[in-house]
Amino acid sequence: MTEDTTFSPKLLSGKRVLITGGGTGLGRGVARHLVDHGAEVHLWGRREAVLAEAAEEASASRPGAVQYHTVDVRDYENVDETMGRIWSEFGPLTGVVNNAAANFIAQTKDLSPRAFQAITSTVMNGSFHTTHAAGKRWIADGLPGSVLSTLTTWVWTGSAFVVPSAMAKAAVHSMTMSLAVEWAKHNIRLNALAPGPIPTDYAWEMLNPTDKSSVGATQADQIPAGRTGTMEELANLTMFLLSDACDYLTGQTIAMDGGQMLAGPGTFAGLNGLTDADWQQIKETSKAASES
Ligand code: HXC
Repeated sequence: MTEDTTFSPKLLSGKRVLITGGGTGLGRGVARHLVDHGAEVHLWGRREAVLAEAAEEASASRPGAVQYHTVDVRDYENVDETMGRIWSEFGPLTGVVNNAAANFIAQTKDLSPRAFQAITSTVMNGSFHTTHAAGKRWIADGLPGSVLSTLTTWVWTGSAFVVPSAMAKAAVHSMTMSLAVEWAKHNIRLNALAPGPIPTDYAWEMLNPTDKSSVGATQADQIPAGRTGTMEELANLTMFLLSDACDYLTGQTIAMDGGQMLAGPGTFAGLNGLTDADWQQIKETSKAASES
């Protein structure tokens, strides 16, 4: 596959797309591709310096094509106010990518209510807040829109040791199907992606924080295709779903995982053999990663 030649460079011309959690990871990775295919991109995240760097990187080919806004998606007022500002200062969005996530692996018995809340409020509440704030404006303005949420194959299988994330992402999968029906008459489409492992530094460290990595989530030998996915493949599917090429496609969560879900016992099932001491080490390593 040749990067950046799969689609016309005008595929997303005229599109204005919001990516939540756009300062890091998958959101940051796909932003550049959207810009290279003609979109104006708005990045949301909590840390201004990280967003500024991501915006500069993503707009390298078209300076000015990326704006960024510090927003905490867990806070509806913050989301709604920032959405209103985008509408009035730049114009209506055409697409929203619900990409902001929070996750770490842990034994569920050790999770505190605050830890559960930290993950679910970002993934479930945050995706609803952003979708609602854009959707009500599209409906009021009589404009079409497209919502794309970044999920995982856990929405179908569950996944041990990442229970809050699996629960919250399943809720967003349900939102995708429900609103696809409710909002179809408004020309608003909702779809989701369920990518298998795609290397990004932070998620890699968070999800494989042990040297016993042969039981971790990201081993290519668990994947029938024999390799992990690439950012270009994720960007291509993202761009296709945000484009006008598939107006009839709605309510779907599409797995892109090299066959991993169909072949495996669940992403972290192999971690059942770890001891409490292993889990203590995992907690320390993954907390240090999230603070760095
Ligand atoms: C155990 C932890 C922990 C860890 C935090 N906590 N990190 N417990 N192991 N590694 C606990 C804390 O002790 C606290 O509970 C509670 O969680 C809240 O922690 P805070 O640090 O106060 O919360 P916050 O600042 O909101 O941080 C949330 C976060 C952080 C999830 C902990 O890492 C974050 O915001 N990450 C955002 C980005 C992210 O995680 N992306 C990864 C997505 S990757 P107590 O009770 O002690 O107060 C992904 C890929 C999946 O999903 C696909 C793979 C195939």
